[in-house]
Amino acid sequence: MDAAILRTALRDAFPDVDLATMRIVRAPGRVNLIGEHTDYNDGFVLPVAIDLRAWIAFVRTRDRRVEIVLGDGARDGFDLDAIGEPRHGWIDRLAGMAWSLGELGLDLHGLRGVLLSEIPMGAGLSSSAAIEIAMAWALRDERPPLAPMKLALAAQHAENSFIGVRSGLMDPFASACGQRDAALMLDCRSLDYRAVPLPLDPYALVACDTRAPHRLESSEYNARRAQCEAAVEIVARAHPEVRSLRDVTMDMLPAIGVIDQVARRRAEHVVRENERVALAVEALEAGRMDSVGRLFAESHASLRDLYEVTSPELDALVEIAVATPGVVASRMTGAGFGGCTVNIVERGAVERLRHAVEREYPARTGRQPAIYVLAATGGAGEVAA
Ligand code: GLA
Repeated sequence: MDAAILRTALRDAFPDVDLATMRIVRAPGRVNLIGEHTDYNDGFVLPVAIDLRAWIAFVRTRDRRVEIVLGDGARDGFDLDAIGEPRHGWIDRLAGMAWSLGELGLDLHGLRGVLLSEIPMGAGLSSSAAIEIAMAWALRDERPPLAPMKLALAAQHAENSFIGVRSGLMDPFASACGQRDAALMLDCRSLDYRAVPLPLDPYALVACDTRAPHRLESSEYNARRAQCEAAVEIVARAHPEVRSLRDVTMDMLPAIGVIDQVARRRAEHVVRENERVALAVEALEAGRMDSVGRLFAESHASLRDLYEVTSPELDALVEIAVATPGVVASRMTGAGFGGCTVNIVERGAVERLRHAVEREYPARTGRQPAIYVLAATGGAGEVAA
């Protein structure tokens, strides 16, 4: 985003501030290539930080007040010394991040800022985590404000303990730690991660947005977590060393099924999805894109049939994509229940996919899609104002 746009927005929102002291921070959204609903099961994920970002232009103040204005003119704020309870509005994500950094005993300062985001809201591209990570960069003078993994954990703590959504580490991790032209394979138990370079000369990364609201997303999301915990509890009766679905193997699944068929299906998805992450990394590194395509297809089918988090719109987008020559891999990405698919597409076939989706998706669903051709970017940071 152009600094001039941010400068104008800041001047319009706060006519009295000294624009010479303006600073700009930004944090990316993400697509997850594979490893869905595995992060909160101590498993593996493979997200990519993308060039759709949340931006905050701000001036630091001497007071302890944080005042933020959005692109649509909405205005809200909070006092760093009296953050209080969530108010069930957009400010909660920003206040929650300040609360979480405060819990760590870190120095924060007041500010007047504008928050402009390129990440579509509710599209499953992690606009919330991007806003939280950008906020942390704005609230602290240290660079980075905190080691990137610690920052991601602080954002997760804000989501879990301030907002009350039991989300995993993947989204803030991708936003804080992203690397250019690469996906990141994260072990959500050890927190070790490594970059997996993407073949972005021959292939484009494309997100197709269902533009369908996330129906029941947070209640269904929390329900999936509870079902995973139920599966672990059943296995642990015979195998006390099992602490999470990360430790469960296929031969343990029948015992879950005797007691709880839903929990067995959820567990089977997670066990196999973790295997698929390792296989996808191997295939990407060896340039075996046909294998990547097969693994994406298996992941989507498993999320549809075993984990039950896809939607007719997501299934339609994947079916349209895989029937389009030059699309090598397609699956839903993120929590599901709406949101986006992620696609790996031969560069020469991107327009073909766009046309196919624009023609067939509205006919099948009555909705207008959106299509984003993405770059893989670095994590959050401050840029020249
Ligand atoms: C959401 C959560 C993540 C992760 C995904 C599903 O994006 O925020 O932590 O659980 O869903 O993989």
